[in-house]
Amino acid sequence: MFRLDGKRAVITGAASGIGLAMAELFAANGATILAVDMDGNKAEAVAQRLGGRSAGFACDVSDERSVTRCFEEIGGPVDILINSAGIAHVGTLRSTTTVDMDRLYAVNVRGTYLCMKAAIEPMVRQGKGVILNLASIAATAALADRFAYSMTKGAVLSMTLSVAKDYLASGVRCNCVSPARVHTPFVDGFVAKNYPGREAEKFEELGKSQPIGRMGKPEEIAALALFLCSDEAAFITGCDYPIDGGFFNLR
Ligand SMILES: NC(=O)c1ccc[n+]([C@@H]2O[C@H](COP(=O)([O-])OP(=O)(O)OC[C@H]3O[C@@H](n4cnc5c(N)ncnc54)[C@H](O)[C@@H]3O)[C@@H](O)[C@H]2O)c1
Repeated sequence: MFRLDGKRAVITGAASGIGLAMAELFAANGATILAVDMDGNKAEAVAQRLGGRSAGFACDVSDERSVTRCFEEIGGPVDILINSAGIAHVGTLRSTTTVDMDRLYAVNVRGTYLCMKAAIEPMVRQGKGVILNLASIAATAALADRFAYSMTKGAVLSMTLSVAKDYLASGVRCNCVSPARVHTPFVDGFVAKNYPGREAEKFEELGKSQPIGRMGKPEEIAALALFLCSDEAAFITGCDYPIDGGFFNLR
């Protein structure tokens, strides 16, 4: 079950964290990985490690020309698109600047839009395809100090529903997953930047915010993604999957 043999999967943010775990698991299950990341060297190193026909691409998902060029280079059919490239921000309405808002929007919202727009044409032509977006519990729950980030993840959820509806008849499925805290360089980075000297304390706090008592592992998100992108999930579209250590229902 859950094999992806013969499928080509574009994964943005594939050089790190959740995107990297997905690239590894999808490749282990037969997919060819087209690893897209701002850090092109790392994306290429990932693809080389995965072997086969996998390839790495340098691309800034927030930049239309960069995305267009990247998908031209990728060429051919795209069976799966995962939008995992994303950036974090800590701040309230009062402390979030216009620059912060635009930066978060550019990567997390415009980036997801541009990559879906580039991938949808070949999918519609083939009459099939799967898109999986990385939303977050921040899309639908109130998280303290995550004003701009929550805005972007709400938008990712809304775009997911819209795309699922509009391309249902074309055979394209579109879903998103909403993880609670997952231990990746993303979390290490914002803890180091925003809570210097209080890293250990913040880590414990972030783990405890899931009733299960710890952060998620990137591999756990990848396992859910593998199912959602496989043919076994053919009946699933227009859904947002929480993967949250009990965050929503057990608090
Ligand atoms: N880690 C968490 O706790 C968590 C929870 C919920 C949702 N998410 C979401 O999951 C996704 C992946 O998060 P992660 O924890 O793996 O992060 P990460 O920082 O480990 O990896 C993100 C990757 O995206 C790349 N990237 C950033 N900006 C880019 C751009 N403009 N163009 C191309 N690539 C770019 C980075 O180079 C990096 O390799 C993000 O969308 C994040 O919002 C993460």
